[in-house]
Amino acid sequence: MERRGEEGMMMRMVLFGFVTMLLGWPLLHPAWSAAAGNPTNGKILYETHCLACHGPQGRGDGPGGKALNPRPADLTTAGTQNKRDVQLLKIIENGRPASAMTGFKGRLPEHEMSDLVAYLRQLGK
Ligand code: HEC
Repeated sequence: MERRGEEGMMMRMVLFGFVTMLLGWPLLHPAWSAAAGNPTNGKILYETHCLACHGPQGRGDGPGGKALNPRPADLTTAGTQNKRDVQLLKIIENGRPASAMTGFKGRLPEHEMSDLVAYLRQLGK
C-alpha cells in the first residue's frame, strides 16, 4: 500500500517535469521569444543603426533622413505601434522596398533585432 503511494508520487513528479518541459520549450525558441527583447540593449543598437534616419525620439526626423523620399517613418505613431512584434521584426529584417530602409538581416543577429523591437515599444510610450 505504502509502496504504491510512493510510485504514484514518482509518476506524478515525472509527469509534472514532462509537462513543464513541453510548455517551457516554446519560450526558449527564438521565434516565440520575439517579444522578450532587451530594450536597454535595443537603445544602444538604435543609436548606432537607426537614429541617423529615424531621429533621437523615433519621430522620423534624423539628420540623415531629411532628403529621403519617402521620409523615414515616425516610429511613435499608431501606424507603427499597432503593428505586432513579428511584423516590426520582419520590416527590420527585410527592409522596405523602394525606400532607404534597408534590411538588417545578416548585419544584426535575430536577438538584437528583438532588442530593437523592445526599444521601439519604449519610443511609442
Ligand atoms: C537610411 C535611413 C534609415 C535607416 C538607417 C533606418 N531606417 Fe527605418 N525607415 C526608413 C524609411 C525611409 C522608412 C519608411 C519606408 C516607407 O515609408 O516605406 C523606414 C521605415 C521603418 C519602419 C516601418 C514603420 C512602419 O510602421 O511602417 C520601421 C519599423 C523601421 N524603419 C525601423 C528601423 C530600425 C529599427 C532601424 C535601425 C535598425 C532603421 N529603421 C534604420 C529609413 C531608415
